Amino acid sequence: MRVFVILPAAGIGTRMAAGTHGAAPKQFLSIGGVPVLVRSLRAFLEVPRVDVVCVAVRASERERVEAQIKEFALGPRVRVVEGGDSRQESVGNALAALESADEDLVLVHDAVRPLIDAATIERTIEAVEKHGAAIVGLPAVDTIKQVERTAEGAIITATIPRERVVLAQTPQGARVGLLRGAFAEAEADGFAGTDEASLLERAGIEVAVVPGSAKNFKITQPGDIELAEFYLKQAGAR
Ligand code: C5P
Repeated sequence: MRVFVILPAAGIGTRMAAGTHGAAPKQFLSIGGVPVLVRSLRAFLEVPRVDVVCVAVRASERERVEAQIKEFALGPRVRVVEGGDSRQESVGNALAALESADEDLVLVHDAVRPLIDAATIERTIEAVEKHGAAIVGLPAVDTIKQVERTAEGAIITATIPRERVVLAQTPQGARVGLLRGAFAEAEADGFAGTDEASLLERAGIEVAVVPGSAKNFKITQPGDIELAEFYLKQAGAR
């Protein structure tokens, strides 16, 4: 059984544009001199069980990414494929390109979560082996409200007991055959989801949850690069 990783990195990242980091897509911003995408790649390459990491990028970014793979000597386990217009399409393209068997295992990880750690990756791999599908989820600490959006703003319609909620992070993984089946069903039905678990759930597949951490956050808005640098400094990392 082999372990494949897909890093969707074809986003445009417009929400960062207003910040101090210019309009570069978030995955190419630098944290302590190392691009976000390179940090995410390194995290998975540090795990010996990972056989291949496949990065999905925009055609116009391919050269830049290939140059970074060389510059940071990321090695022969890294592949590059072309992404699509949505995260789901980018992951679908990479999934189609993997030379893998149904019983192999695939993890999908947002390229913009560079602080994922090896122990969490290993726990996710073990959970997928055991359950068939698993994601990393952060237990909710705030009280969760369901709302209805109105012209005047949001109005609460219900309180969801927080012990029944986790915030979905990545990696999200499954046996390759299960994830390919879920993607095929979603495509046939025209379903668009924002993560892999939503596709697996609607295909009737049980998905286990591995505990995540606040550190595994998604670089999204101005200030997030500084936050990532803070976490790294705290950990005494380079
Ligand atoms: O936009 P969002 O924050 O959900 O992006 C999550 C991940 O999906 C990012 O790493 C981003 O680069 C990737 N993505 C992609 N293809 C797209 C849109 C987003 O690979 N078309």
